[in-house]
Amino acid sequence: MKFGDTLNGKITGLDDKGRGMFEDRVIPFTFPGDEVEAAFVKRDKGMKIARLTKITSPSSDRVDAPCPHAGVCGGCLWQQLSYDAQLRLKQDMLQKTFEQPVIVQPSTEQFFFRNRMDYVFGWKGELGLKEYGSWNRYVDIKECLLLDKETPSILETIRGLMRDLKLEPWDAKKYTGDLRYTVIRLGKNTSERMIILLVKDFARLAPFHEQIKTALAPLCTTLYLGENPEITDVSYAKSFILLHGNEYLTEEVNGIRYTIHPNSFFQTNSDMAGKLQTAVLDLLPSGKILDLYCGLGFFGIAAAKKGNEVYGHELDTPAIELAKRNAADNGVADKTRWGAGPVEALDWSAEKPDAVIIDPPRAGLHPKALKALLENEPPQIIYVSCNFHRLAEELKQLKTKYRVESLQALDLFPHTPHVEVVAKLVYSNT
Ligand SMILES: C[S@@+](CC[C@H](N)C(=O)[O-])C[C@H]1O[C@@H](n2cnc3c(N)ncnc32)[C@H](O)[C@@H]1O
Repeated sequence: MKFGDTLNGKITGLDDKGRGMFEDRVIPFTFPGDEVEAAFVKRDKGMKIARLTKITSPSSDRVDAPCPHAGVCGGCLWQQLSYDAQLRLKQDMLQKTFEQPVIVQPSTEQFFFRNRMDYVFGWKGELGLKEYGSWNRYVDIKECLLLDKETPSILETIRGLMRDLKLEPWDAKKYTGDLRYTVIRLGKNTSERMIILLVKDFARLAPFHEQIKTALAPLCTTLYLGENPEITDVSYAKSFILLHGNEYLTEEVNGIRYTIHPNSFFQTNSDMAGKLQTAVLDLLPSGKILDLYCGLGFFGIAAAKKGNEVYGHELDTPAIELAKRNAADNGVADKTRWGAGPVEALDWSAEKPDAVIIDPPRAGLHPKALKALLENEPPQIIYVSCNFHRLAEELKQLKTKYRVESLQALDLFPHTPHVEVVAKLVYSNT
């Protein structure tokens, strides 16, 4: 088969990434039941990846997506699927992976549920998201239903600044240009908005601080310039200049106020994060809790407010500094301790927890962190995972000493194949 050749067929299932497939063919933006035509574009791990060219007969689960960019944009792979079907397919994927039923709690909101988006500048001057599956083709976002209604006009203001100040968009192939990302973070429950304009080099922007401030300060409560001088394509700033407003963003979840550093992780769906936090608290025993990958103290502070003694450990030093502040602001400084460093290097000798919360990044646990858990044998583990495939792999090892008492899922990520899973593991030496 040559690139560009036409493939015809009926989609029978989904691959691990939530893309429709039949036989050895994978076609993004298709769903079980669709009959399609597609153009063969590349091979990947023994599969033929094809681009959808025509739906000859649509699945009955298809809906008209409200966003004009759906079907191309990398932000929403599943927006053309009804929300009921999204939940059903997530449950099917979980059932297949864990070989048991796992109920998915639906998202309370299906649009405008995110509190953070990282919009990228494309080399032609686009400002938006990457096309699905591409690293150098960009969607110039005119509408986006993920963050809030004001977002498109903020992006338009930034495009205007780029033109007026004659700034160049970053070219990820040639490593040239000035503007790399626009990160927008919201306090959904505090009505705050942080805008970070991420640039290659602060010096290039130095003459324009006043113009940038005049255009963007009225639209936010915090305005930063962030600098990433490296060639790596990440929306992470090595340093910041505060141009306007408060140093930090604040968000409130379940009555707890969190102060958030511009670079630090915070659960991206505030409303569902509250439900996730409640689910974790409901599973926790009382006593000493070790909160690993604790971020700004999202779970640890809530656990301390319930009366537990908490030690939180996290790689991101600014997040740990804010975890201390967040604990104090929420009246639990005396019940909490916090430490910065990699979990894989944690000294367990001083910790004898009654339960451990682990909430690692998408890549999962470092092998040394997994080994330490198994060696130290905490009585209970509450594993919070945004990558259930990885969780399933790690469970194979954890099950040598632990029994899975419960598995539940919460949909923090509508219109994507992702879902948050919470597993409760209980030590069992039988
Ligand atoms: C999914 S987030 C969870 C954060 C926190 N539990 C929350 O709910 O807000 C994962 C966190 O792990 C941290 N992290 C990444 N690698 C780490 C490592 N090797 N050791 C410790 N923390 C790490 C990240 O900085 C991030 O804050």
